[in-house]
Amino acid sequence: MKKKYSVIVPVLSLFMMSVGYCQQSPVINVGNVTAVKIEDQKVSITITNANAEVTVYTPSVIRVRMDRKVLVPDFSYAVVGKPIAVKANIKQTDTEIDIITDSLKAVIQKQPFSIAYYTPDGQVINEDDKGLSTSWVNESVTDYKTLQPDEHFIGLGEKTGNLDRTGSGYTNWNSDVYGYSITQDPLYSSIPFYIGIHHGLSYGIFLDNTYQTDFNFGASTNRFSSFGARGGEMNYYFIYHKHLADIITSYTYLTGRMPLPPMWSLGYQQNRYSYYPEAEVMRIAHTLREKHIPADGITLDIHYMDKYQLFTWNKNRFPDPAGMNAELNKLGFKTTVIVDPGIKIAPGAPAYESGLKNDVYIKYPDGQPYVGAVWPGWCNFNDFTSQKGRDWWHSQVKFFAESGVSGIWNDMNEIATWGSKMPDNVLFDYDGHQTSHLQAHNIYGMQMARSSYEGALMQFKERPFILTRSGFAGLQRYTAIWTGDNRAEEDHMLQGVRLMNSLGLSGVSFTGMDIGGFTGNPTTSLYARWMELGAFIPYYRNHTAFNSKAAEPWTFGEDVLDITRNYISLRYQLLPYIYSGFYESTQNGLPVMRSLAIDYTFDPKVLWADYQNQFEFGNGIMVAPFESTKEYGKIYFPEGIWYDLYNGLQEAGKQEKIVPLSLNKLPVYVKGGSIIPMQSLVQSTAEQPVDTLFVHVYKGTTANHFVYYEDDGKSFAYQKGDFYKRLITFNPANHTIIFNAAEGSYKTHFKHIKLILHGFDQANTIQTGNDQLKLQSGSFQFLGAAAGGDPQGSAYPTESCAVKWVTIDNSAITIQINYK
Ligand code: NOJ
Repeated sequence: MKKKYSVIVPVLSLFMMSVGYCQQSPVINVGNVTAVKIEDQKVSITITNANAEVTVYTPSVIRVRMDRKVLVPDFSYAVVGKPIAVKANIKQTDTEIDIITDSLKAVIQKQPFSIAYYTPDGQVINEDDKGLSTSWVNESVTDYKTLQPDEHFIGLGEKTGNLDRTGSGYTNWNSDVYGYSITQDPLYSSIPFYIGIHHGLSYGIFLDNTYQTDFNFGASTNRFSSFGARGGEMNYYFIYHKHLADIITSYTYLTGRMPLPPMWSLGYQQNRYSYYPEAEVMRIAHTLREKHIPADGITLDIHYMDKYQLFTWNKNRFPDPAGMNAELNKLGFKTTVIVDPGIKIAPGAPAYESGLKNDVYIKYPDGQPYVGAVWPGWCNFNDFTSQKGRDWWHSQVKFFAESGVSGIWNDMNEIATWGSKMPDNVLFDYDGHQTSHLQAHNIYGMQMARSSYEGALMQFKERPFILTRSGFAGLQRYTAIWTGDNRAEEDHMLQGVRLMNSLGLSGVSFTGMDIGGFTGNPTTSLYARWMELGAFIPYYRNHTAFNSKAAEPWTFGEDVLDITRNYISLRYQLLPYIYSGFYESTQNGLPVMRSLAIDYTFDPKVLWADYQNQFEFGNGIMVAPFESTKEYGKIYFPEGIWYDLYNGLQEAGKQEKIVPLSLNKLPVYVKGGSIIPMQSLVQSTAEQPVDTLFVHVYKGTTANHFVYYEDDGKSFAYQKGDFYKRLITFNPANHTIIFNAAEGSYKTHFKHIKLILHGFDQANTIQTGNDQLKLQSGSFQFLGAAAGGDPQGSAYPTESCAVKWVTIDNSAITIQINYK
């Protein structure tokens, strides 16, 4: 008996364990490849526990789809770029499948399935952890990648913390985070795209999945980085280029680029929660003009509405909105209004009834509309993921067109409700692929912004401006984004810089933050520093909360008013440079506000915490923001020559330097070789500058070019060729500056060019064809009354740069600068 028992028990328990293990393992690994089908650019792979499809999307982009179910044609809100026909060499052996393009090689191991990506010369760019590869836990799917020695990570959109994300983990679940902390996660928008950097290589990974997604960049592990989703497919795009900038260009090939914004949206915007009634709005507008603070926008927050009901005006506060907006227009202001998603359940109210009639509200599975409470009380919500819902919204946008509004600010679209707990079982159309809240949540905000953009395209006569709080990858196709309810604190100002730099790395160029801080009251110095910084961020808007102190430029005393005016004026003089930068973004997806990691990817110092707040504004200007409380700041000058913007003093590159700080001056430097076009001071973009373009050229050691772009700044005529675009090149090797012939039918506003040379101390003449022109010696002030762009200087005792200058006609020309 005893013997029998001792044999049976271990055998039985072994059997039970193995059966139990197989049946109960909560982790399903992808398994071994069992069948392979190669068609042109695509490989379909059957694996023990999944199906996969690997597609060469472009020579530099490989798409990987994996699911435990059979893969069916899919649908994406984010990706608009189609695969392009490329020469791909795909072949298999017993053990692996090789995919070779001109730019990279992917090798898929069969036993078990794992993918590795290599450069054409065989360096590992990125590879699955062979043991963990891809696996499922219930509906969640995760891909584990081997952490490469000294690998760093950047991007992932609107994420707090360090620019370098190594050692951290993040979640994407769009959230309403009033007064968030500088380490809080998640915030309002989700962009599941990041860039890895190691061994002089960089690559991008975009996980196209709108469920909650989770990323781990070596948090509590030295084994892997990972990315995964709580549902849906493993569906990612792997991007490799030698230059990081090209990775962003490929990513925005996939997810689209921003349309050209209206010029007025690049001017200064005055905002608060809330300006009302009309007399107050007009007082703000008139005061800006009286105090010579250039400005283009006034923004109206929720109090313009009647009891916060969408598509209404509070007629006591705003008896004649169209009249008021016309009056503002005459003063050179455009009006942007806030528009939330919640439609108040108010029987008899036109918007509510119309939504009901058109059956656009999101519903529970039993057919009852979802109800959530927000500003107006109990609300229903349009299903922006359905064509029907978007069509309905387009027609509602007419209300704003009729009121003379130029911009739509979509807020609370995470969706934010009191309590912010939408149940999982709320249903969404998801463009004919009906789904639950779990999959639709992260995309809702972007689809709202999309609907507003499309509606405004139909209803407004000019280019619309759309601003959103919530979004998803690809939001740049429709809207600008701002970083929500920050705090009036020093570290929030700097955190905001990193949020915007990270958004820029993630395809979003038009970004902003509440300048001065939304919650709380900034100190005088913080306010001044923040307003200075605002001149160098894409969306320059001052905003503050309902219960905080007024924050218009004149509310912090005369000194701060002067500082603020100086920087807003500088912003307006820089508009030709800025607008050209926005144009560039529309073409290649590169952000206007750029992390130094874009141009100096493999210089480890740009990711150091000490220097991570430095950024480039366009590709010639570097800004080094510091807390307003600091007396000294440590700046890193990457490779090249750098000029102090204000006094022209040169700094050598590859140098860390401690500089004294002063409140009236934000540290700003210009890269040697840069070409910076500027204009005379105007009080709004509705005003014409003088007809001379001031083209600053900074002596450097490598050739550089600038694409100058101009159009009417408001219509769509540029789409039919009515623009003025020219290449300007500076070549230090032969001392030439070349203004190419312009492309496009638009007639430039600028008849003359004042060429302002920085660092060319030994030059006295320039040669244009047979003519020799004498260079004038002078000085140029970027702050203060130089306003007017006159290099002869001004009466204001601020710093100035020693320059050489000459005025020439604005024609195609090769200029030889004569110096040794
Ligand atoms: C929340 C937004 O983030 C904030 O900017 C706005 O002022 C308030 N909602 C009120 O509309």
